[in-house]
Amino acid sequence: RGPAATVPDLAGRHVVVSAGGTREPLDPVRFLGNRSSGKQGYALARTAAARGARVTLLAANTDLPDPAGVDLVRVGTAVQLREAVLKAAADADAVVMAAAVADFRPVDYATGKIKKQGDREPDPVRLTRNPDILAEISATRARPGQLVAGFAAETDDVLANGRAKLARKGCDLLVVNEVGERKTFGSAENEAVVLAADGTETPVPYGPKEALADTLWDLVARRLDAG
Ligand code: CTP
Ligand code: CA
Repeated sequence: RGPAATVPDLAGRHVVVSAGGTREPLDPVRFLGNRSSGKQGYALARTAAARGARVTLLAANTDLPDPAGVDLVRVGTAVQLREAVLKAAADADAVVMAAAVADFRPVDYATGKIKKQGDREPDPVRLTRNPDILAEISATRARPGQLVAGFAAETDDVLANGRAKLARKGCDLLVVNEVGERKTFGSAENEAVVLAADGTETPVPYGPKEALADTLWDLVARRLDAG
């Protein structure tokens, strides 16, 4: 980290970070999930704490060491994460949704383990939409001037899709990671770009998740100080 990151520019601020990936249960032993490790969210929590913030980390199914000096709340499903985000956001200066939230969850939950039932073909799994937490907190803004940021991975038309998603969600900042196709960014060195609602674009070169986290906190701190 550069010297700027050691400045306690988030002192007196409460920031909320979600990390990991939600799991949507089918029965007591099975779930629909994703491969998010939570490392980016944990890096955001650590760097914010290092910059003086009070940090609430909402961890969905992570298996990482607890960051020091951070309030950790564990959640499982998207619905549980929504509850935890709304509660923590009530007095937050900034909320960063780094968690991979399942878009859908099974309609039915079997209270007992689902059995094969002989040679019978399996029943299809019916899904329903989960709440869009980022869109909801962006629309609500529990506190005036509260900053809201999200993450998105895009494969095609990265910037155009990122811009459209930023507008759709109504958040202030969206970190767009390019996955797959590289040439859309023009330069292969840029691993991500932070799109802001004010039209600015901040490229983030390939590097550790802490560096991306510090770039995002730079943008957040500047906007909080200006507001
Ligand atoms: N997100 C959320 N609630 C959801 C889904 C996503 O809060 N139900 C947040 C994620 O935490 C992330 C951002 O929204 O910060 C973007 O997630 P992404 O999956 O890229 O957006 P979607 O609107 O689900 O679009 P897509 O159809 O591309 O998956
Ligand atoms: Ca999604």
